[in-house]
Amino acid sequence: MDFSLCFFLLLSLFFTPSSSTPPSSIFEGSSLSVDRPNDVLISLNGVFTSGFHSIGDNAFIFAIWFTKSFGPTIVWTANRDQPVNGKGSKLLLQKGGKLILTDAGESPLWTAAAATPTSTSAQLSLHDTGNLILSTSSNTSHILWQSFDSPTNTLLPHQLLTRYTTLISSRSGTNHSSGFYKLFFDNNNVLSLLYTGPEVSSIYWPDPWLRIWDQGRTSYNSSNTAVLDSSGHFISSDNLKFSSADFGLGPQRRLTLDIDGNLRLYSLDETTGNWTVTWQATSDPCKVHGVCGPNGICSYESGAGTGRGCFCVPGYRIKNSSDWSYGCELDPSYLSGDAQTTDFVSLSFMEFYGYEYNVTMGQTLESCKKICLESAICKGFLFKYEDGASHSCYAKSQLLNGKTSPNLRATLYVKLNVSQKEKNGFIPSVQQIQLKCLRKNPIVLDRIYKTKSGSKFLEYLAWFACGVGLLEMCVFTLCFFVFRTPKDSGPETRGYFLAATTFKKFSYAELKKATRGFNKEIGRGGYGVVYKGTLLDNRVAAIKRLNDAKEGEAEFLAEVSTIGRLNHMNLIEMWGYCVEGKHRLLVSEFMEHGSLADNLNSNTLDSEKRYSIAVGIAKGLSYLHEECLEWVLHCDIKPQNILLDANYQPKVADFGLYKLLNRGEGSNLSFSKMRGTSGYMAPEWVFNHPITSKVDVYSYGIVVFEMITGRSPAGVQPTTDGGGLETWVRNKKQGAPNSNAWIEEIIDPTLRGGYEMGRMETLVRVAMQCVEDDKDARPTMRKVVEMLLWNEDRLI
Ligand SMILES: *[C@@H]1O[C@H](CO)[C@@H](O)[C@H](O)[C@H]1NC(C)=O
Ligand SMILES: *[C@@H]1O[C@H](CO)[C@@H](O)[C@H](O)[C@H]1NC(C)=O
Ligand SMILES: *[C@@H]1O[C@H](CO)[C@@H](O)[C@H](O)[C@H]1NC(C)=O
Ligand SMILES: *[C@@H]1O[C@H](CO)[C@@H](O)[C@H](O)[C@H]1NC(C)=O
Ligand SMILES: *[C@@H]1O[C@H](CO)[C@@H](O)[C@H](O)[C@H]1NC(C)=O
Ligand SMILES: *[C@@H]1O[C@H](CO)[C@@H](O)[C@H](O)[C@H]1NC(C)=O
Ligand SMILES: *[C@@H]1O[C@H](CO)[C@@H](O)[C@H](O)[C@H]1NC(C)=O
Ligand SMILES: *[C@@H]1O[C@H](CO)[C@@H](O)[C@H](O)[C@H]1NC(C)=O
Repeated sequence: MDFSLCFFLLLSLFFTPSSSTPPSSIFEGSSLSVDRPNDVLISLNGVFTSGFHSIGDNAFIFAIWFTKSFGPTIVWTANRDQPVNGKGSKLLLQKGGKLILTDAGESPLWTAAAATPTSTSAQLSLHDTGNLILSTSSNTSHILWQSFDSPTNTLLPHQLLTRYTTLISSRSGTNHSSGFYKLFFDNNNVLSLLYTGPEVSSIYWPDPWLRIWDQGRTSYNSSNTAVLDSSGHFISSDNLKFSSADFGLGPQRRLTLDIDGNLRLYSLDETTGNWTVTWQATSDPCKVHGVCGPNGICSYESGAGTGRGCFCVPGYRIKNSSDWSYGCELDPSYLSGDAQTTDFVSLSFMEFYGYEYNVTMGQTLESCKKICLESAICKGFLFKYEDGASHSCYAKSQLLNGKTSPNLRATLYVKLNVSQKEKNGFIPSVQQIQLKCLRKNPIVLDRIYKTKSGSKFLEYLAWFACGVGLLEMCVFTLCFFVFRTPKDSGPETRGYFLAATTFKKFSYAELKKATRGFNKEIGRGGYGVVYKGTLLDNRVAAIKRLNDAKEGEAEFLAEVSTIGRLNHMNLIEMWGYCVEGKHRLLVSEFMEHGSLADNLNSNTLDSEKRYSIAVGIAKGLSYLHEECLEWVLHCDIKPQNILLDANYQPKVADFGLYKLLNRGEGSNLSFSKMRGTSGYMAPEWVFNHPITSKVDVYSYGIVVFEMITGRSPAGVQPTTDGGGLETWVRNKKQGAPNSNAWIEEIIDPTLRGGYEMGRMETLVRVAMQCVEDDKDARPTMRKVVEMLLWNEDRLI
């Protein structure tokens, strides 16, 4: 608990009316806030609750759940793919019947808009059926929006499944975002289960190899509706009918598409709060496609109690030891080396559904092998015993949807390059592999409303006030607001107050007007051009037009919203973005003093300023790397990207930009795709080693050298061993290992005489560590901050 938390607690004590039973409705102009745990709606019968639900550290979803079940049973989520912050997030019912979900004061993340805005006032009610309904207040049967129309993974009694709605499973038990399985009416009007994996998709229910009518379904009724009634009977327009094992009025029920791809009907035992399965789509979990991924085989022994398991086709190995949906890949030892002859390794009692490119009846094993050997796309074949002693041959281009069971009559032959070892009778082993338990990886959202560099003094003061009591706190709060002059809103408090400002979406027309038709160019880089502009509210902005940005709007928005959340006094403040047609723009604050590069060129920086700039950059990067999510690497630190404010405090710009551009695809940052700027780039880029936050540490070291020496890496003649600025410095040091004379020699001539040797020594020492070739020898940015600040403390 720290200052802001304490502050909030007291505020909420003050302003929350002591509530009795939560209501079932809210009216226009009111909201539900994540900050107040009692801000929930409870249906009149008490069965359902709706409100913010925590799904990780500081991450919340707005959801509806069963009030009385043992452990949370969520039936609907507004924002399953994008959780919101644990502070400042709200569900607001605005005028005109607009329901919006905001994330920590940012622009709406999710909107439930009425098809036609209403002039009369609106209300939001959680009904006894678990349906969250937005209606007009005067006539509650005039429905503007309802949660039943946008199900997530669960269908409740009376909730209609139609051609426009689908159920999508959650990704895992702890990750509520959209997973791989889908229940929907397919093109033939048949209610089906579909697997849509990272690479392939296929329908697995009803049984795809049987005719629709043989399974009691029909494709002739195009009304495409299905519903579960309150007695536990399910009826669908394709003639599918089933009933709960405990049918009859009474228990609460739900039909859920589970994370394992099976559709199950559950009934609630209200005394224990436990759910029991009263119907399921398939009793053979291996029938679900995609469970073991490509080249994986599913096994399930009913009754054995071991549950479902996966293993790899011989010669293949698991790709991701914590997730089977990635499947198996060819063991590299079969690709190269002395593996010369192509041969087959067999496994009995197999089935692999789909992907046969050649099916022939009445074959011998030899002729079947020949078919497979002749084609490069053949990965193997199924040799199946048919009635009447004949065999058929299914040559496969992919080994997908594999399963094994004692009653299956086919044998799989996998095509492999075999070496002498196999020829001598060695058979590649197939073992059931236990999944490595995934480290519990809670969803963590960065807390944009505070900075860690909170003033110690304020913190103590707050604690003191907490202890003394509400009255003092009230006085303190008042003082805080009333006597806080603009000058006081220094870096310590800013982080918190910024939460109120919004990161918004601009229209292209708005930005065109702000820049007067994009005529004042102030910068240019590989990513695009930067213009100066004045926004409607008179703020002066830097508007960056991206050339090569991600085409997909959703993809772009996902990245931009991450960048918009970052907030630190040493990072350029992002004000918004524009995505319209092909246009992709970013709007941020404008810095009058220009970049560090400009200032170094014009000799405006004395040694003290340079030191504090080095500290500031380090703080900004340290925030990017550690206090937020580690993957926010900068990847292009250079003096051109560091801007200076009126007090010559540095602000890092262009962070996360590489994520918006087509060049840096997710985790696959490689030299060919993303180069940074030569002279500032860590050796990892060149040698194609894994890219970590240490690449920024390296670039930072070079920037510090540049500030010390006044030499740009571009201006240094490469030495014979190919090194740049850092090699030049190292060589100077080598010449005079035992005295500090060499430091004096490398210092920027324009600083001569006007510097404090202790500071310079520290800077040089830190920068030397940052540019180590071995990334593990470089300090983290946090460590850099500590080293630099420790030195300052010592000097004072
Ligand atoms: C209430 O709204 C419903 C649906 O729009 C409509 O059918 C009904 O006539 C309305 N009732 C009144 C009293 O206006
Ligand atoms: C189609 O299905 C709906 C819903 O089950 C049913 O009411 C309707 O009678 C069916 N139509 C025909 C032609 O069978
Ligand atoms: C209900 O579930 C809990 C937790 O899974 C379990 O400990 C308990 O035994 C169950 N109760 C009944 C009656 O099944
Ligand atoms: C394996 O999958 C998990 C969960 O999807 C993911 O977090 C992890 O990064 C993956 N590991 C590799 C090596 O791909
Ligand atoms: C399957 O392969 C055999 C042997 O190569 C060939 O004769 C036959 O035409 C192929 N059948 C199809 C459908 O491609
Ligand atoms: C066999 O090895 C060659 C290279 O030596 C490779 O191109 C081919 O894909 C391998 N075949 C199989 C079935 O692994
Ligand atoms: C949840 O799953 C989604 C989709 O697979 C993924 O993008 C996201 O990173 C996952 N979240 C966590 C915390 O694993
Ligand atoms: C990364 O990109 C390179 C070059 O485009 C590609 O060859 C490689 O397969 C990619 N790796 C992954 C894991 O996507």
